Amino acid sequence: VQAPEKERSPVARNIVQVSLADRAYDIILGHGLLQEAGALLSSLPSRKICVVTDQNVARLYLVSFMKSLEEGGFQACPPVILPAGESSKSFQQLQYIVDKCLSYRLDRNSTIVALGGGVVGDIAGFAASMLLRGINFIQVPTTLLSQVDSSVGGKTGINATGGKNMVGAFYHPKTVLIDTDVLKTLSSRELKAGYAEILKYALISDPAFFGWLEKNGKALIAGDAKAQEYAIETSCRAKTAIVEADEDERKGIRALLNLGHSFGHALEKLGGYDGKILHGEAVGIGCLMAFEFSHELGLCPLADVVRLKSHLSMAGLMIEAPFRVDAEALLAAMQGDKKNRDGNITLILTKGIGKAFVANNIREADLKKFLDKR
Ligand SMILES: NC(=O)c1ccc[n+]([C@@H]2O[C@H](COP(=O)([O-])OP(=O)(O)OC[C@H]3O[C@@H](n4cnc5c(N)ncnc54)[C@H](O)[C@@H]3O)[C@@H](O)[C@H]2O)c1
Ligand SMILES: [Zn+2]
Repeated sequence: VQAPEKERSPVARNIVQVSLADRAYDIILGHGLLQEAGALLSSLPSRKICVVTDQNVARLYLVSFMKSLEEGGFQACPPVILPAGESSKSFQQLQYIVDKCLSYRLDRNSTIVALGGGVVGDIAGFAASMLLRGINFIQVPTTLLSQVDSSVGGKTGINATGGKNMVGAFYHPKTVLIDTDVLKTLSSRELKAGYAEILKYALISDPAFFGWLEKNGKALIAGDAKAQEYAIETSCRAKTAIVEADEDERKGIRALLNLGHSFGHALEKLGGYDGKILHGEAVGIGCLMAFEFSHELGLCPLADVVRLKSHLSMAGLMIEAPFRVDAEALLAAMQGDKKNRDGNITLILTKGIGKAFVANNIREADLKKFLDKR
C-alpha cells in the first residue's frame, strides 16, 4: 500500500550521465521512482506514451506505474503485456508490439516505455527503434540484471532461429529510471544472477570495487537497499564509461564487457535455455573459467582465481554448471560465438582481479586442453 502523496518522503536520487557522440541522457537511480515516473519524464516532447511490460511485472507494478504517468499528465495507451520469459524475445512478439503501437497511432514524438527485465527492455527498445524509424524510448528496468547491464548501453534486439540476440539495433533510451524498491519482489535466484554482472565490472577493471563486494556482497544479496544502490550506481558508471569509449563496439574496448560471456553463452547453449542455468549464473561460472584459463596460460596469479572462487561461493553462485559439460561440445559452442572473427578464438582474459584484456589469438589446442581438464 502506498503512503498518501503528502506523507511520502522526498525521493533520494543519483544521476549517472551518459555522454555519447550525438546525444546524452541520464540514468536516474533511487527508490520510489516508479511512483514519480510521471514527473520525472515531464520533459518528453509528447504526452502520448505506451508501456510495454510482462505479465509478472504487470501484476506487481503496472497499476501504480500507470497512475504515476496519469498524474504526470500523460495519455497512456492500453499497456502491451507480454508473456514473461526469454521466449518473448521473438519476431512474433515484436510484431505484436509494433501492430499495437501503430493501432494506437503513436507518432514520432510519442514514447515507448519498457517496464520490466532485460527481455522487455530488449524487445521494446527494438520496437521503438523501428517504429516510424525511431520513436522515443524510456527504460524502467525491474531486475537487478537489467538495472546494471541490459538497460545501459543501447543494445536492443530479439532472438532468431540463428541464435540469441541475432537481430537487433543500437538504440539508446532518452532516460533510464532505476527504482531499487522493485528488487524486493525479485526472486533470490534472479537477484544473484544479476549480482554476477555486478561482479563482472569489478573483475574487469575495479579491484577496489571487488574488495567492497567482498565486504558487502552478502548484505546486498540479502536485500540491503543501501548496498544495492551503491553497487548499481557503480556498475552503471562502469558500463557507461566503457560504452562512451566504444559505443559501436569497433575499438575493442566494449568487448571487455564480455568477460565470462564466451564461456557463459556456451554453457547456456548446452543447458538448452530451459531455466537449468540463468544467464547471470552462466556468466559467474564463465568469469571463473576465464580466470582459471588465464592462470593456466601463466597470465593470472592463482591467488586471484582462489579469491574469485570463494567470492562466488559466498554469494551463493554456481562455480560449475548444474549439468554434465562435454568439453568437445563446449568448445564447439564457443566457436559458434558471434564475437569470433576469421576463425581465431577471441576471449576476454585477465592478469588478475581488475585487469581484464582482449586476447585475440587464442590457440584452440590450449583452450581444448583447459576444457578437457576442467
Ligand atoms: N541489451 C543488453 O545489453 C543486454 C545485456 C544483458 C542481458 N540482456 C538480455 O536480458 C535478458 C535477461 O534479462 P533479465 O535477467 O532481466 O530477465 P527477464 O526480463 O526474463 O526477467 C526475469 C524474470 O523476473 C521477472 N521480474 C522482472 N522484474 C521483477 C520484479 N521486480 N519482481 C519480480 N519479478 C520480476 C520477469 O517477469 C521474469 O520472469 C536476456 O534476454 C538477455 O539477452 C541484454
Ligand atoms: Zn551478461
